[in-house]
Amino acid sequence: MLNIGVLASGRGSNFQAIIDDIEAGKIKASIKLLITDRADAFAMERAKKHSIEYMFINPRDFASKDAFFAKIADEFTKRDIGLVVLAGFMRIVRQPLLDAFQNMIINIHPALLPSFPGLHGQGQAVEYGSRISGCTVHFVDAGMDTGPIIIQAAVPVAPDDTEETLSQRILRLEHKIFPHAIRLYAEGRLRIEGRIVKIDGYKLNDCAIINPPLDQ
Ligand code: GRF
Repeated sequence: MLNIGVLASGRGSNFQAIIDDIEAGKIKASIKLLITDRADAFAMERAKKHSIEYMFINPRDFASKDAFFAKIADEFTKRDIGLVVLAGFMRIVRQPLLDAFQNMIINIHPALLPSFPGLHGQGQAVEYGSRISGCTVHFVDAGMDTGPIIIQAAVPVAPDDTEETLSQRILRLEHKIFPHAIRLYAEGRLRIEGRIVKIDGYKLNDCAIINPPLDQ
């Protein structure tokens, strides 16, 4: 069975969605460890409630960013982690973790990449005047939200949307596509070729979701 390691910095609603789908038997995997980089990350409360091991690793305790990520890699390696999930982890992953878990790290981003990478993807879409935005699950590479795309989901942007209202609409879909991507990974159906992710038994709804659907 797949062992999952999670990195989170905040409230952890995506972490919760993954826990729920695992507990419901939809994903054959087990979350072995949550690591946070913030002492106050609410994600740790969720881990506690579901008897998942968790730890806060303070980046300030390390001489360099690489040393911090080497420590994370070490903790995950010790637990035989087969997938690292970034669930609202607010840092660029550095080489020691990327090297230890090549093509085994995935992230969720609240925009339709390659549009609006970085912080406040939802606010960027509102300010730009986009008519459609959404979220993206992708493999992680050394760049900022640049790795190969697994799934995207799109939502309309309403004329009166704010960063908050659009964030809520996008978040509902994040909670669907992130667990779904993990399920595809756990079933061994994802293969990376260059920057393209090939999906065994591809169905359109596996990886491109429009909400509401265009025919409604
Ligand atoms: C989400 O919007 C996610 O897309 C982004 O950070 C936020 C994390 O939210 N990467 P949560 O901690 O999962 O509730």
